[in-house]
Amino acid sequence: MKIAIIGSGGREHALALTISKSSSVKEIFCIPGNAGTSKIATNVDMDINEFDKMYKCISDNSIDLVVVGPEQPLVNGIVDYLEKFNIKVFGPNKIASQLEGSKIFTKKLCQEYNIPTANFGIFENRIDAKKFLKSAKYPNVIKADNLAAGKGVYICNNEQESFMAVEEIFNGKFGEAKNVLMEEFLKGEEMSYFIISDGNTFKSFETAQDHKRVLEGDNGKNTGGMGAYSPSRLINKDLEDKIINKIIKPTLKGLKDLGTDYKGFLYAGLMIVENEPYLIEYNVRMGDPECQTILPKLKTDLVEILEACCDKKLADINIEWTNKKSLCVVLCSKGYPDTYQKNILIKNIENLNPEKNNFIFHAGTKKENDKIYSTGGRVLNFISLSDDFLQARGKVHECIKKLDWSGGFYRRDIGFKVID
Ligand code: AMP
Ligand code: GLY
Repeated sequence: MKIAIIGSGGREHALALTISKSSSVKEIFCIPGNAGTSKIATNVDMDINEFDKMYKCISDNSIDLVVVGPEQPLVNGIVDYLEKFNIKVFGPNKIASQLEGSKIFTKKLCQEYNIPTANFGIFENRIDAKKFLKSAKYPNVIKADNLAAGKGVYICNNEQESFMAVEEIFNGKFGEAKNVLMEEFLKGEEMSYFIISDGNTFKSFETAQDHKRVLEGDNGKNTGGMGAYSPSRLINKDLEDKIINKIIKPTLKGLKDLGTDYKGFLYAGLMIVENEPYLIEYNVRMGDPECQTILPKLKTDLVEILEACCDKKLADINIEWTNKKSLCVVLCSKGYPDTYQKNILIKNIENLNPEKNNFIFHAGTKKENDKIYSTGGRVLNFISLSDDFLQARGKVHECIKKLDWSGGFYRRDIGFKVID
């Protein structure tokens, strides 16, 4: 089989490596990929929002299966577009992708299907929003409706902060805003719950917890994710039953009632309050760096699973996992998530050769003249599978130290809640 993976992050390198282990795979294309994927796949330099060019590349190379990593092309309808040409694509269609593309779509679904989530209000203009905020409780949460690369969420401690959030959103900071979403602030611990679905059947695809803040102790600005560990320390049978029955099943039913179904990975971002799950957000893809953390635990052939999903035969597959602990640390460019330098040489990365059960997945890297350079904020992911999280983190730190890249920084406390 020939497989194309769309995207260029650590998630896509992890997908490419896992896919490359399948005996049925002959060739992998990454559109556009990174320096890491170039070792196991053919990278195709292309804008992932230009669907017609991607179709041409997929058809010229007789690709059998397309796997979509990031949310933007999904929300823009890449699956519907490619399926019109009878191409097999793993990922949700445009309507189902609204679960991530519109926070208000998801909130309305929660309301209709009684899915536990923070209480909320939707306001169509700044005057009504501010009138409500004058007597609101603080802290509260104000969100832009549309995709904002994780940036359209404000946790507001007072009226002044919340007024500013409303102004920024309606002024178009995250694209045209027809409304704003306000939520009650939920106090608990966050975890990520993943499923994979073929439209008829779904299966759990493991749990993780990530560290979104840039500084140690979970302080500082929000980022795409500085590290993660799997499984989540919060998961237990009772909680999992509640997540499935109160959140996942009603969501999938809601989509069916809309006349569509869900094919792909679905990532539920949850707040757990006293062993009760509340839906914070949906993502219509694997998480990054959760994907890099979870995939090394997978024992079943990933290509078999993805194909079964496209053929609506997931019920026939038994997904098996090792019960080791997995921990991932993200090495970032100094300055991230604000401004940082690009094109910094990463010298001895090719000499690292991580031992068994240890992995390095590239994110913002490129290869030029056989040398590897940084191109993004999140540059490399270091993962270790071990018997416990402390050992895993130790292995990861050993490997990062061997790299000795002065252009980067990382959080040394990933997994502190399960280790320290
Ligand atoms: P979102 O993009 O909706 O996941 O929000 C980004 C982050 O904001 C989440 O990962 C949470 O840490 C926080 N957050 C969002 N909504 C709430 C809420 N209702 N209560 C508490 N924290 C929240
Ligand atoms: N790690 C958070 C995300 O992928 O959205």
